[in-house]
Amino acid sequence: MKLPMKMQKLVLLIPALLAALAISCCNAAAAPVRMQLTHVDAGRGLSGRELMHRMAMRSKARAPRLLSGSATAPVSPAPDADGGPGTRRVQLTFDTGSDLTWTQCLPCPLCFEQSLPYFDGSRSSTHALLPCDSTQCQSLQVVSCGKKYWSNQSCVYIYTYGDKSVTVGHLDVETITFGDGAGADTSRRASMPGVAFGCGLVNHGTYGIAGTGLAGFGRGPLSLPSQLKLDNFSYCLTAAMTGSKPSTILLDLPADLYSHGCSAVQTTPLIKNPRNPTPYYLSLKGITVGSKRLPVPESVFALKNGTGGTVIDSGTSIMWLPPSVYRLVREAFLAHVKLPVVPSNGTGPLLCFSAPPRGKPYVPKLVLHFEGATMHLPRENYVFEVDDDAGNRNICLAITEGDEMTIIGNFQQQNMHVLYDLKNSKLSFVHAQCDKL
Ligand SMILES: *[C@@H]1O[C@H](CO)[C@@H](O)[C@H](O)[C@H]1NC(C)=O
Ligand SMILES: *[C@@H]1O[C@H](CO)[C@@H](O)[C@H](O)[C@H]1NC(C)=O
Ligand SMILES: *[C@@H]1O[C@H](CO)[C@@H](O)[C@H](O)[C@H]1NC(C)=O
Ligand SMILES: *[C@@H]1O[C@H](CO)[C@@H](O)[C@H](O)[C@H]1NC(C)=O
Repeated sequence: MKLPMKMQKLVLLIPALLAALAISCCNAAAAPVRMQLTHVDAGRGLSGRELMHRMAMRSKARAPRLLSGSATAPVSPAPDADGGPGTRRVQLTFDTGSDLTWTQCLPCPLCFEQSLPYFDGSRSSTHALLPCDSTQCQSLQVVSCGKKYWSNQSCVYIYTYGDKSVTVGHLDVETITFGDGAGADTSRRASMPGVAFGCGLVNHGTYGIAGTGLAGFGRGPLSLPSQLKLDNFSYCLTAAMTGSKPSTILLDLPADLYSHGCSAVQTTPLIKNPRNPTPYYLSLKGITVGSKRLPVPESVFALKNGTGGTVIDSGTSIMWLPPSVYRLVREAFLAHVKLPVVPSNGTGPLLCFSAPPRGKPYVPKLVLHFEGATMHLPRENYVFEVDDDAGNRNICLAITEGDEMTIIGNFQQQNMHVLYDLKNSKLSFVHAQCDKL
């Protein structure tokens, strides 16, 4: 199914007053909703090398706890977006590695700069504070009752991320509208009253200047997919290194749209970790480099008493492997790629080779074997090219060494339509040209 071009400008809106939007409420699944994502570094004029460095650092920063940090994709409103009188636009970083959705909020005593106005709940008739004893508040780990500052037992949260980013604020409810802000066609908007979100007053960390906060698309009860009771959502990320074409995210997409990929759809179970409800765990069984499956026991990729495991994440840039696996991958690439290794310096922790000025040097294939599914990674999803300071061409591996957790980052998911089938607890993926979706 092809949606009209206009639909590609759908935005995520938090209206402070929802007067104009006469959407049947209570079920965001009424219509599939399409939103646009742009890369956090898009349009900043960074070189490939700077981009990669930032991505590597960002991945590094967030490794200790999977809970995001900064991510690829702030939901980006159309320039002419207007959701009706009193509507407040927000521009959120899309993160499947965390649950809380938040945006910077007045009076914003300690906020980072943003181009959009801060959210002002007092101008909204649909906005309310959540009490401490609400179930939404209880599902957050670090909360206190805001007796002193906000009075009346409102829910005050502290939410931290793996890279030490933090947001502190109060948990509120508001009507949230997803959809195309431009024009009068409201038929493709979906609106949901009473969505819990963080009104962030003290926000500190590696948040992109483009954003106003973060959209938590994790698996926990407070995440947007959980609150919107989505059956599924999907995204298709355009190439990060070669241009800044917007990516797409779809909520409750129709099944036929999904089948437009250019290869067979692969499906694997989503696994739950009782000790951490947020991440999307997968059952990874093994890795092939070239034609040889690495001699790694499956247990290395599995959850061990709630720790380790394999996770697919939109908020981590490049792939993380346990040290023992990374060593084998590195050795395999060293054996296959007949080029001099670049001393790890400007490239950070990544393995890079010095490449001839032109041509496409041979690199071995990389295949991930999941329960029931095989992911043949296109070359662009694990190898990238950068020029060093002297203008020499390097090719680098977009994989790094982490702790016991294996993370499939957004670099590995480029030009792949990835479907999170929450209803059936499955993840599907198919190669796709994401700029054409
Ligand atoms: C706190 O709640 C009480 C009872 O609902 C109400 O009378 C009072 O005005 C509230 N105070 C504030 C500051 O909101
Ligand atoms: C996603 O969910 C919607 C709403 O339930 C459903 O109609 C659609 O078939 C689902 N899409 C896929 C690909 O499962
Ligand atoms: C599993 O983790 C819990 C909590 O950290 C710990 O108390 C327990 O001993 C662990 N069990 C095993 C078998 O390691
Ligand atoms: C490594 O970095 C140092 C300091 O930035 C620099 O002087 C040196 O030339 C670099 N070496 C290589 C091989 O790039």
